[in-house]
Amino acid sequence: MDFRRRIIITGGAGFIGSHVVRLFVNKYPDYQIINLDKLTYAGNLANLKDIESAPNYVFEKADICDFDKMLELFRKYNVDGIIHLAAESHVDRSIKDPFTFAQTNVMGTLSLLQAAKLYWESLPEKYEGKRFYHISTDEVYGALEMTHPEGVEAPFTTVASTGKNHCAYGEEFFVETTKYNPHSPYSASKASSDHFVRAFHDTYGMPTIVTNCSNNYGPYQFPEKLIPLFINNIRHRKPLPVYGKGENVRDWLYVVDHARAIDTIFHNGKVAETYNIGGFNEWKNIDIIKVVINTVDRLLGRKEGEDLDLITYVTDRLGHDARYAIDSRKLQAELGWEPSLQFEEGIEKTVRWYLDNEEWLENVTSGDYQKYYDNMYKGR
Ligand code: NAD
Ligand code: DAU
Repeated sequence: MDFRRRIIITGGAGFIGSHVVRLFVNKYPDYQIINLDKLTYAGNLANLKDIESAPNYVFEKADICDFDKMLELFRKYNVDGIIHLAAESHVDRSIKDPFTFAQTNVMGTLSLLQAAKLYWESLPEKYEGKRFYHISTDEVYGALEMTHPEGVEAPFTTVASTGKNHCAYGEEFFVETTKYNPHSPYSASKASSDHFVRAFHDTYGMPTIVTNCSNNYGPYQFPEKLIPLFINNIRHRKPLPVYGKGENVRDWLYVVDHARAIDTIFHNGKVAETYNIGGFNEWKNIDIIKVVINTVDRLLGRKEGEDLDLITYVTDRLGHDARYAIDSRKLQAELGWEPSLQFEEGIEKTVRWYLDNEEWLENVTSGDYQKYYDNMYKGR
């Protein structure tokens, strides 16, 4: 079959990548979607069970750091677009093992950029109709101050700087022009990869786009991250390790809304632009933890709040950023994207999904999911 477009999605077996692959495979049957993933501990092909037999879907097990392999795959599929999500993504792991983060996030991105450059420059039309879309994070901007006075509860008020009525713990937000100031090895590696992507536009004219998104939550997230880890622990009545005082603020977006934004930006975003993605939805960790506890308790038929005593304050994360808050008005105004879900609805859906998908969680926590590739793909 001749496909209208041929797009590599890297990291498609991970949390966000699997939602992006699913959306593209279902929405664009005339595109060939090539899921390129190394299947590290964070990659799980069971995340894509529902679409793995689709005629427009292919899986390639490969390491983005393997430049020769990347070039071979660009040629094999005559790739005209790339949506790059593959990365080491967990801040705590980056604090223990920064080398792996520099290798995958910096060198891996560079190897993909160079493969795209060599392949596209070899074609008669060169960069015309091509796109290199790099997915990044709000953490590259550093941390914002909490400027609301102590004791002010989740302030759903009109914020002067945005003119919006939303929950904010300060007047300052990350905008697309905010100076990069990463603090963790993870965010430093993502910042570096963002710079390489922009350099390939400025130096070679590659049609690149970068987006920086806030914290995602939803189904298929690896249970080392706050929300799925805590849902699983509450279910098994295990302690909930809250770093520091639980006062740090994160800005949460439902993962499907991130995937919708990626679709919009891939198709309609302007080359060489940066777009911030977020839903104006700030929460202190401790508040979100209480919402999660109450929701799990209610859905499991326990007394609401019964598991609040699982909260255990532990030593803070090194260099723990105080507050992230994205201003996504550029994306909303220029490309018409907005989040489809309110947080209360999203968190209810999320908790329900993890409770209904006990087998998925058990496979992930036992390590059994890593056999999925051997059973499904090896020897094909
Ligand atoms: P994840 O850890 O769940 O998935 C990462 C995927 O990349 C896995 O499938 C893994 O196997 C794959 N991978 C890792 N190293 C690879 C390599 N060398 N070659 C090929 N594949 C490799 O990550 P996620 O949370 O889905 O994040 C995806 C992207 O979005 C990352 O670039 C991350 O920085 C960015 N991001 C994440 C969030 C968030 O809240 N999770 C927010 C903003 C941006
Ligand atoms: O902001 C976007 C980023 O969000 C992404 O770029 C990262 O890939 C993603 O992992 C996420 O980073 P965070 O460090 O914010 O997410 P995490 O789920 O690890 O932690 C969320 C908050 O909860 C953070 O303030 C640390 C705290 N926390 C986390 C864990 C795992 C705890 O208090 N206890 C925990 O056990």
